[in-house]
Amino acid sequence: MNRTENQEDICTHYADEYDKYLGAIVPPIFQNTLFTHKTENHGYSYTRANNPTIEIAERKIAALEGGESAACFSSGVAAISAAILHWLAKDDHLICVSSVYPRTRALIHSYLDKFGITATFVPGHSIEEFEHAIQPNTKLIYLESPSSIIFAMQDLAAVAELAQTHGIVTMIDNTWATPLFQNPLHLGIDVAIHSATKYLGGHSDILGGVVVGRADAIKGIVERERGLLGAIMDPHQAWLLIRSLRTLPVRMKQHQENARKMAAFLETHAAVSQVFYPGLPSHPQYEIGRKQMSGFAGVMSFIVKASYEQLDKMLHGLMMYEMGASWGGFESLISGIAIDEPLSVYTGLPVGTPIIRVSVGLENIDSLIADLHQGLDRLLL
Ligand SMILES: Cc1ncc(COP(=O)(O)O)c(C=O)c1O
Repeated sequence: MNRTENQEDICTHYADEYDKYLGAIVPPIFQNTLFTHKTENHGYSYTRANNPTIEIAERKIAALEGGESAACFSSGVAAISAAILHWLAKDDHLICVSSVYPRTRALIHSYLDKFGITATFVPGHSIEEFEHAIQPNTKLIYLESPSSIIFAMQDLAAVAELAQTHGIVTMIDNTWATPLFQNPLHLGIDVAIHSATKYLGGHSDILGGVVVGRADAIKGIVERERGLLGAIMDPHQAWLLIRSLRTLPVRMKQHQENARKMAAFLETHAAVSQVFYPGLPSHPQYEIGRKQMSGFAGVMSFIVKASYEQLDKMLHGLMMYEMGASWGGFESLISGIAIDEPLSVYTGLPVGTPIIRVSVGLENIDSLIADLHQGLDRLLL
């Protein structure tokens, strides 16, 4: 037996190398910028390039994703930008799912154009959409599955196969599922990206991002985009990330269990007209999710039969939930929006539809449900 055989062991022990660090059960933080070469060269020189603490986090996450190599960044956005910039050059074209994280959309839609890079956004529900969008200069297909708002999914194996026949690189934001519930590289996708700020970090105390893929590609990103733009993860962030990874399997198990109960409750409440959660058989793409994921994380959304103003007032009155924009932490978070024009285009929901997103945390699920239950009841009065 060795400690690379399953994901729990990778999370708890893999790459810790106790003998190298005096037997310390928790490897130390190399909180230094410089490595002196005066007497011996240990292979490190400057933390902007590499650092032993950051490398432990990278080795663990690469192993979890089943990738050859990983590179850690100062945020998820930094990881996404570096990976996209690495594979594109002047006048290239990329295809991206329209439900992508808004900052990724902004980078692709209104930043890359200054290099003459063009993009086609597709809903991503069928393989034909991708096929029709391919142009002679298409170099990249960017996926996010499941994605925010309505948790749309793409058939990863089918997109990977199509892309391979055209020599196109495929990349996915795998933040929602985590490497525990979905391993896109095993399905033929070339690159998996995570915002480590969400579940991988899990404690709402670090920002971070990771890119996982083939060793030569990651080496190129480390030397070029990470080295030149300088957005490497800080060693202290990496140390906290290693700490967080140790509990990732138990946290995800609990997020999944709590979310399953929450989704089932929401489906039965009279003030809720629709629930979007990939783990519910009522999700229109449930079968795709089951085919390519081994579990379901804790973020979902639902439409309520109320005005946005009523919804907002109700959310502010909840006792068990904090309100905020992030997700994937230990704490339950809730937020409401009214669907705007761009969101309406890709969700198919009418403009103005009030929708609530909830990140189900690790609190007692009966208390979470009871609190939301009384809030939703008030919408019916
Ligand atoms: C799906 C997804 N990807 C990437 C990001 C960006 O990550 P970060 O906030 O770590 O830059 C977010 C942030 O909310 C996200 O929701």
